Amino acid sequence: EKGGFAHFMLKEIYEQPKSVRDTVNPRLLNGLPSLGCGDLSGVERVHIIGCGTAMHAGLVGRAAIERFARVPAEVHVASEFRYGDPIIGKKDLAVIISQSGETADTLAALRLAKQKGVRTMAIVNVVGSSIAREADCVLYTWAGPEIAVASTKAYSVQLAMLDLLALQLALDHGRISPHETRVLCADLQKLPDMVEEALKLDASCKEAAAAYAKQEIAFFIGRGVDYPSSMEGALKLKEIAYVESEAYAAGELKHGTISLIVEHTPVIALATQSKLFEKTVSNIKEVKARGAEVLLLCGKGAHVTEDVADHVLMLPDVPEWLMPSVLVVPLQLFAYYMAAERGCDIDQPRNLAKSVTVE
Ligand code: M6R
Repeated sequence: EKGGFAHFMLKEIYEQPKSVRDTVNPRLLNGLPSLGCGDLSGVERVHIIGCGTAMHAGLVGRAAIERFARVPAEVHVASEFRYGDPIIGKKDLAVIISQSGETADTLAALRLAKQKGVRTMAIVNVVGSSIAREADCVLYTWAGPEIAVASTKAYSVQLAMLDLLALQLALDHGRISPHETRVLCADLQKLPDMVEEALKLDASCKEAAAAYAKQEIAFFIGRGVDYPSSMEGALKLKEIAYVESEAYAAGELKHGTISLIVEHTPVIALATQSKLFEKTVSNIKEVKARGAEVLLLCGKGAHVTEDVADHVLMLPDVPEWLMPSVLVVPLQLFAYYMAAERGCDIDQPRNLAKSVTVE
């Protein structure tokens, strides 16, 4: 049932092009997003709520929403939201993200949002799950069953759905024209092929993982939208390879964390956004000067001089706003091969369950 793959996780990583295609295509009508959740022009603020990987997807989605729709968006960790005293206006939209649709904290957050009288929208992968049933509107993602504890394809489809939501909000708010929206939707339709292309980095990820497999810590750094991708990359590595890994906004390093960098400390630097590239390169130089062994992930077009990093993974050429969807693939593969090298139980990591139905 693993379809010839050694683990469900690897199989699910490879299913991502299909999952993204199955999720995006039914939500496009005449080249425009068609979410079927009514008119969004009155939405004044978006609250995105989830746990773990779903919350990370929310952080990437927030950037797209603010960029295209210029609607303020916030991301809440569900376990904090449910016991907090969130400020929510009647014209806000609460977007609840969950693969399983059964995560206890996320379900409780949905119920609190409903109590506050705000419109709720759920992005869920499991049909008929509790969150899907209770939200005002459901946007199903079509990743298919995700068996491995570490979430991979569910994240990719959450990103794709959030991209569609960002474009729908932007269109409904009149921030982008139908023509511009069609161009962006056409990009989104090409995303499955771009993800397919990113899977070709498999062997290079395996090689990079072999170089770092004996390390017990790792730092992920990135700026802008690469920061949430860093968080997701670090979570994968912690979860399945048991490497103590942390993500930092690259500019934050010098405010404390850099004291931890010594000879051979692994630093995984994500730099997919051209306008921030040189800034991240400066941070890479700072850590390299202290002995860090740097793995750089960047776009093909980036100007990378030979001495900038110890290992470089070049991502396929894709529109920059879609980079998080492509970047996550080598991050997943890197964590996977690290875990394999370290002899970990990849599909069933210790202490973890697929669905966290207790708080
Ligand atoms: O089913 P959900 O999306 O609500 O699950 C949320 C988290 O528990 C989940 O994403 C978790 O962080 C993953 N195991 C990470 O790979």
